[in-house]
This record gives sequence, structure tokens and C-alpha cells, in this order.
Amino acid sequence: FNSLATKTISALRPAVRSIHSTASQNAKVAVLGAAGGIGQPLSLLCKLSPEVDELSCYDIVGTPGVAADLSHIPSKSSTLGRLPSPVKWPMGPNDGLKEALEGSDVVVIPAGVPRKPGMTRDDLFNTNASIVQTLVEGCAKFCPDAMIAIISNPVNSTVPIAAEVLKKHGVYNPKKLAGVTTLDVCRANTFVGNHMGWDPKDVDVTVIGGHAGITILPLFSRVDGAKFTDDELEAITVRTQFGGDEVVAAKAGAGSATLSMAYAGYLFTENVLKALRGEEITQCAFVESNLTEAQYFASPVKFGKNGVEEILPLGELSAYEKQWFDKMMPELKKQIQKGVDFVKK
Ligand code: NAD
Ligand code: LMR
Repeated sequence: FNSLATKTISALRPAVRSIHSTASQNAKVAVLGAAGGIGQPLSLLCKLSPEVDELSCYDIVGTPGVAADLSHIPSKSSTLGRLPSPVKWPMGPNDGLKEALEGSDVVVIPAGVPRKPGMTRDDLFNTNASIVQTLVEGCAKFCPDAMIAIISNPVNSTVPIAAEVLKKHGVYNPKKLAGVTTLDVCRANTFVGNHMGWDPKDVDVTVIGGHAGITILPLFSRVDGAKFTDDELEAITVRTQFGGDEVVAAKAGAGSATLSMAYAGYLFTENVLKALRGEEITQCAFVESNLTEAQYFASPVKFGKNGVEEILPLGELSAYEKQWFDKMMPELKKQIQKGVDFVKK
């Protein structure tokens, strides 16, 4: 039955896609860590996205089930589930990571362990550094031109790790690697919206720096019409910087943000796909940058057909923001160096 069902599904899929697919480009997204707390809802949102033609779900566990489940949703994209082992869905030749990655335009990586209360993101380094290293080695071999979006923490170190791995393989393109900091922007938008009584959907806060504690710097001075007392500004800034801790504490040992991160990761991915298709999109991202002394820095970035097209100038910071910026820089540079050293050594 399985083989018959799979043959039937495979036979149907091209017909469905040829009816509904309008984009000339066949956009493939691979989610690595697709069975996890972020990976599953992120894969769901990608499956629903009109920008995605092929969705590839890879993990060390569970992806045949995740992919089979998603494949029943009547959206235009095909769905593939792959494991490193020979268990596979749909049936067919299986080469795990290779098959998951080949032909990908965007690879999103939420693979790795999440925090528990009392931990910093840096405490995840020992486990997640080698997970990211292995997966990005796969990207270097099987889809060297894909845009790689890193979610796995600590982002301030895992992005430099990814860059060094790609350099080792001679395929590093700084336009095609970014750390996803969209959740910081989502939080800042929500908190300002709530504070001002605005619909958060109408707010777009610039958040710069990195993605850990004080390396996250929301620039609320740039939000037109937003008004804060000094105490309110301090509270909303610190809440944005430590929004992740708020969720970790509330989940009480069951992990960190997954649903809001899946939404943020989907927003980032869909924007990149639109840009690769030719739309000009500006969004904050943690990329290799010469805006500051830090080799990688999150700031508003223009994405286009080739990935990162332009890192926009930072502009003036307010005196309040400048204080945070000065505090952040040594911390950010240290975390970046830790990632670089991990691969170089
Ligand atoms: P999770 O434990 O629920 O899921 C992680 C998944 O990764 C699991 O399914 C696991 O099997 C998989 N995995 C582990 N090793 C792998 C490998 N070698 N190859 C493929 N898959 C592998 O964790 P989660 O809550 O989804 O969080 C994942 C990561 O995302 C954590 O590091 C977390 O800190 C980070 N995160 C980042 C942000 C951000 O804003 N950038 C936000 C939230 C969480
Ligand atoms: C977040 O900001 O929610 C993530 O980086 C997860 C975490 O550990 O806080």
C-alpha cells in the first residue's frame, strides 16, 4: 500500500504544481531541524507560503512524518522529508542531507538545542557549534549558491562559524549568509504597538547589533510618533533585549521561543524569496558588515536577486542608544571571535 500510495502521490504532484505554479522560478526552501519546536511550525508556514514551490524538511528524527503530514495541505509546494538514515518519505533513493539540500534557494537552520532557565545563549555553544558546522558543510557541498539563514543559537557565533566553514570549502559568499534577527524586530514592534495603542503590524523598528542580551539594540528613537518617558524607554529597550529570557522563564524548562520564532523565520525566508525573484526588500539581518568594528552586525539590509545587495548606512544614534552601543561592542566582538576560532582551530 505504501509504495502504491507514494507512487500515486508522486504522480499527482507535478500535475498539481503545473496548474498552480505561476512563478517562473522554482523556489526550493530547505529547513534543517524541521522536526523541532521551531522547525515544525516554520515548515508549516513555508508550506503555506505562495513563494515556496518545494519544501524540504531535514532533521535527525521525525521528518518523514512531518513531511507526510504537511504534504496533505493543499498548497502548491511539494514536500520532501529526509533523515541522515535510510528511512525516507516519499519512497525513492535516499541520500539524506544531499537530497534535502540539492537545488535549494534558501536553507533555514533552526537545528540545535534551546536554552533552559538560567542559561545564556552562549551556554549552547558547545552543542550547537558542531551541529551548525556539519549542516553548513552540507550546504557547501550540495547547494553552495543557496542563501543560508541561521536561527540556531548563539547566532552571534554560529553565523561566523558558518562563514568559516564556507570559506574552508572555497564557497563563501557574504551576500548569501545571514543570521535571523527578525524575532527581535517582531518583539520591538509588538512592545511599541502595545505601548502606544497602535496596531503592531504598522510598526517597523530598526534593531541593530547581534542576537543576545545587550547585543540587541532597538532604535526606538526612529519610530515616528512614539513617545516614552526615560523610564519607559529603558524598560522597553531591556524587554526587547531580554525578550528571549521572558519566554524561556515562562516555558519553565520546556525550551525557548518556538512559535514567534517560526513566524519570524518565515517572514525572513519569504522576504528573501521575494528578493531573489527580483523584488527589492529591506529587512534587518546579522550579516558580514563594515558598518562598525564588529565583523558581523545586524542592521537594515537591502536584499535583491543576489541576496544581500546593500547594507544601509547606520545613521546617527541617540545619546541613549549610543551608551548601549558602546556597551555592546566588546561583547559582540568576543562572541563573533569565538565562532571564528571554533572553525579555525
Ligand atoms: P528543538 O530542540 O525543539 O528543535 C531542534 C531540532 O534540531 C530537533 O528536532 C533536533 O532533532 C534537530 N537537530 C539536532 N541536531 C541536528 C542535526 N545535526 N541535524 C539536523 N537537525 C538536528 O529546539 P528549538 O526550540 O526548535 O530551537 C532550535 C534553535 O533555535 C536553538 O538553538 C534556539 O536557541 C534557537 N532559537 C533562535 C532564535 C533566534 O531568534 N535566532 C529564536 C528562538 C530559538
Ligand atoms: C529568542 O530570542 O527567543 C531566542 O534566541 C531563544 C532564546 O534562547 O532566547
